[in-house]
Amino acid sequence: MAAILRPTVAEVRLSAVRNNLRKLAVAAAPARLLFVVKANAYGHGAAELARLAERERLAWGFGVSSVEEGLALRAAGLESPVLVLGSLYPFESFVEAINADLMVTIASLDAARQVVEAARRLGRRAVCHIKLETGMGRIGARKPSLLKIYDELAAAPEVAVAGVYTHLSSADSDPDYTGQQLAIFSETAAELERRGAAGLTLHAANSAATMNFPVSRLDMVRCGIAAYGLADGFEPALTLKSRVVFVKNVREGACVSYNRSFRAGRPMRIATIPAGYGDGYLRRFSNKADVLIGGRRCRVLGNVTMDMTMVDVTGVKEAAVGSEAVLLGRQGDEEITAQELAALADTITYEIVTLLTGRVPRTYAE
Ligand SMILES: Cc1ncc(COP(=O)(O)O)c(C=O)c1O
Repeated sequence: MAAILRPTVAEVRLSAVRNNLRKLAVAAAPARLLFVVKANAYGHGAAELARLAERERLAWGFGVSSVEEGLALRAAGLESPVLVLGSLYPFESFVEAINADLMVTIASLDAARQVVEAARRLGRRAVCHIKLETGMGRIGARKPSLLKIYDELAAAPEVAVAGVYTHLSSADSDPDYTGQQLAIFSETAAELERRGAAGLTLHAANSAATMNFPVSRLDMVRCGIAAYGLADGFEPALTLKSRVVFVKNVREGACVSYNRSFRAGRPMRIATIPAGYGDGYLRRFSNKADVLIGGRRCRVLGNVTMDMTMVDVTGVKEAAVGSEAVLLGRQGDEEITAQELAALADTITYEIVTLLTGRVPRTYAE
């Protein structure tokens, strides 16, 4: 691997992820914990964090969104159960999934027939979780179709139905709606039981539900955001940091960056940091976000560019080429939170970390 020379890195604190997973596991127990590591573990690095979780038995298994993400975990040597949460297409994907021992989500009768067919052809067992639509409106079968899917799969010796699950749309914001979703889910689970289904792993909870709705924990919880510390009561794991590469003094009236959206109203000292929207540091932060240098907040000046961002270091005398700059995370007593950046960009913390691009090396520290 090429040496990391550019100083912009996303440093992930493993101790934070460990503590967060332990906290989730304790809250969920006796339910099992599925650690959701889709989208490169929300930008944190899926292989590395999955290895930590497997090595230290912090989670029962992993949730990914696609067969590719599951295959990447297997290629990284992970042996724990992996559930592909997305709806698979093309149906040929079932072959790859079964071969790599990935559990698949079945949300339609068509998919059910295809997974049976793929397992039959391979002569290998396919392990399935059936997805119930209870109000998320994304993928999932409503109760009558789910029962048909179950019958189809249960009749195929090549297939094991390991679980039935649903996804909650508003566990972080709407307790009533969450309650309604859970009621639909338990009614369907009861109907399956009446039909003789046994030993199914029932699951519904994401991070917010795990912490706020004890009844949602069922047999397993599927947690992502809290494991990364981006939910109340958890430790943020990721710090996006860089170093100052250029410093200049400017006169009153000097303009900064593309389209002159900032003009100095007084003489100023300005530092340039080699990070921009090409790294996932959003252009929406232009003239709004702060960066920490010398433990102090320095306002972004002008438009964030693809590779560089300018900040005001007029009040930070010690700022010089080489000074550490924290764009997300803590430095000294100050902290730029993902919540703060999300609010500036009118988005959610999930997007702030997931959008960090592949150009930013992920490094890991205890
Ligand atoms: C099906 C499914 N389960 C669980 C999760 C984890 O959710 P959270 O990150 O809010 O814990 C996700 C993520 O969006 C998901 O899509």
